[in-house]
This record gives sequence, structure tokens and C-alpha cells, in this order.
Amino acid sequence: MIKTVRIGIIGSGGIAHAHINQYKRLPNVQIVGVADVVPGKAKQFVDSLSLTDTQAFEDHRKLLELDLDGVSICTPNVSHHVTTVDALRAGKHVLLEKPMSVTLAEAVDMVKATKESGKILTIGFQPRYDPNMKLVQDIVQSGKLGKVYYVETGGGRRRGMPGGTFIRKDLAGAGAMADIGCYSLDMALNAMGYPRPLTVSSFTSNHFGTNKLYHPEADRFEVEDFGVAMIRFENDLVLQFKISWAMHMDTLGSTMFLGTDGGLKVNPAGTGNWSGVWDGKVGDLTLFHDFMGQPTSTPIPIIEHTQDLFFEKVRDFVDAVSEGHPAPIPGEQILIQQAIIDGVLRSSELKREVAIELPY
Ligand SMILES: NC(=O)c1ccc[n+]([C@@H]2O[C@H](COP(=O)([O-])OP(=O)(O)OC[C@H]3O[C@@H](n4cnc5c(N)ncnc54)[C@H](O)[C@@H]3O)[C@@H](O)[C@H]2O)c1
Repeated sequence: MIKTVRIGIIGSGGIAHAHINQYKRLPNVQIVGVADVVPGKAKQFVDSLSLTDTQAFEDHRKLLELDLDGVSICTPNVSHHVTTVDALRAGKHVLLEKPMSVTLAEAVDMVKATKESGKILTIGFQPRYDPNMKLVQDIVQSGKLGKVYYVETGGGRRRGMPGGTFIRKDLAGAGAMADIGCYSLDMALNAMGYPRPLTVSSFTSNHFGTNKLYHPEADRFEVEDFGVAMIRFENDLVLQFKISWAMHMDTLGSTMFLGTDGGLKVNPAGTGNWSGVWDGKVGDLTLFHDFMGQPTSTPIPIIEHTQDLFFEKVRDFVDAVSEGHPAPIPGEQILIQQAIIDGVLRSSELKREVAIELPY
């Protein structure tokens, strides 16, 4: 018999709806409680979804006193650290929304708490569940490209700046890099097996976000809306990372892997003001290689699928909890991303190359 997995949800805003909708599709899940700091918000959330057996709280620590197996953390970035560490220390497994944290120090602390608790901390990057993401990883890791020495990733929206907590440095940590850059960084780094970063030289700006012409909250816009970074890794690998929430350009280019025997280009799906960045869907794939001594390019058919990636991410977490598997997308791995973002921010402030600080 399948064990019932008892779940709590911390934060009942936009993305919490996506979590709950997926949990409701899983017959072995019971939504035991929801917490939100805004008075009455969790109760309203529970009532609006007719979750009659689900308790509502204003303090996540009260929710954590319940008999739960795991929690989804759906709060703004600034609260990821405290809620995750509290949940782990209370002995609950954690599915945490991206990005992992506001600061690198928080991410390090979260990994420490994970190790001490023996529980799972998995970060919610649903694009990982796209079979084309796996295809990219398989091609890169197959050796067909030879030694990969250069990777370029990121991209840009022509217009696509969020507001609210997303544009406050203390609440979000970083802007476009953390919000959408984390997806393309994850694709590239995951395909490369999350290599160890060494140094970064970067530039960031926020010409659009701080201009009333482009952003209604320009007066309180504190993060970067554009960033470019050159990141060095162990084993003579370099990654160029470009990201933008707004720009006078259609795209900042494709993701590409350059190897000694071949190259792989990954285009984002679609076009338009929001689509020139890779943040979830593979548009098309091309392999560049020599054939009979001639430079040749071969389109690689992308895998058509009907999978709901968000459902897959929630189901994978539930399966890991109920079957005792390791974290599907471990916090320890995504800590590397946080270290890179931390280095990018320091480098752009100091206007020089800096070492990327990893705790191990
Ligand atoms: N995976 C995705 O596709 C995806 C999409 C959108 C947002 N996100 C991520 O999800 C997170 C939440 O984003 P959102 O758009 O739902 O934000 P939101 O502002 O709509 O909702 C966040 C909720 O958390 C509550 N909250 C804040 N601090 C809390 C605390 N300490 N305890 C309990 N509740 C607390 C707020 O009151 C709010 O109701 C962000 O980290 C964001 O990056 C992920």
C-alpha cells in the first residue's frame, strides 16, 4: 500500500496555487496545513480551494508543529532561508521554490541544516523535467562534442521586469540573474555536471528598471535588469552568462556548448517580448560537427511531450519522500549557482575579477 505523504505549504501567494494543484492530483498526498504571514491569507487560500481538512496558520513554525512529512516553500526569496532551516530542523523534507536564497551565506546554512537533519532539500527547477533538458545533458555528456571548453547561456526578454519583492535587493538578492538566469544557468551547469567555478568577471546595470518610462516602480528598483559575466571553471572551461529583463534587442543569443569535436546550439522556444531567454522550454537543437571532413550542421529533433513539468517536479519530491530517495535537485548542487551569483554581484560592484567562494 502506498504511504500517505503529509504535506504543508508555506506561503500562499501565486506559486503556491501551482503547488497545491499538483499535490491535489496525487492520491497519496494529504495537504495538512498552509501558513502565510499575511493575517487571514492562508485561511482564505484554504477556503477558496475547499480544503476542509487543512489547517491555516500565520506563523510557519506553528505549521511545522504538525505531523508532516514535507513542506513546499512558496514564499518570496527573502524568507527561503528561515523557513527552510526551520522546516529541516523540525524534521520535515523540503521542496523549495527557486532561487535557492538571497545570499550565499544563507545557502551554505541551508545545506548545513540539510546535512544535520538527514532530510531532503530539493530546489524547484521544473525545466529539469523536460525530456529535452535531459537530451541536452545526454548529448553534452556523451562525449560527442569532445572536450567542452566554452559554454554560453542566458538570454533576454525585450520587456519583462517584475515588481514587488522581485526588485528589492534585501528581499530578492539579485534581479534578472536570480529570477530567470537561474534556469539557463541550471541547464548549462547541469549538462556539464555542475563543475566547480573558480573566478568571475562581470558587469550589471539597471537602466530600464530605474527609468519611469519602463517601470512603474522605478523609484524603488534596486537590483540588476541586465548582467553579463565570464566565469572560469576547473578543467579549462569558461562560461559566458548574459541575462536581461529588458533591452532594445530581440535576443541575447542562444545557449551553446563549444567542444573540440562538436558544438551544440540550444534555442529558446518562441519569440516575442518575453521569449528571448531560455527559461524552461527548448526551442530547437542543432549539432555542429564535421562529416567526411566538411563542416556540417545536423538538426536534432526535439522530443515532443505532453508532460506537465510542474507536476513532475512535485511528484518527484513526493516520490522521494515516500520512497526514501535522495533529493531530486539537491540544495548542495544549487549552492554552486548561488556562489556564482554572489561572485557576479561582487565582481560588478568591485569592477574586477573575483574568486568564487565555495564552502568546500
Ligand atoms: N518555479 C516557478 O515557475 C516560479 C514561478 C513564480 C515564482 N516562483 C518563486 O516562488 C516564490 C514565491 O513567488 P510568488 O510569485 O508566489 O510570490 P507571492 O508574493 O505571490 O507569494 C508569496 C507569499 O508568501 C507569503 N510569505 C512571505 N513570507 C512568509 C513567511 N515567512 N511565512 C509564510 N508566508 C510568507 C506572502 O505573504 C505571500 O502570500 C519566489 O521565490 C519566486 O521566485 C517560482
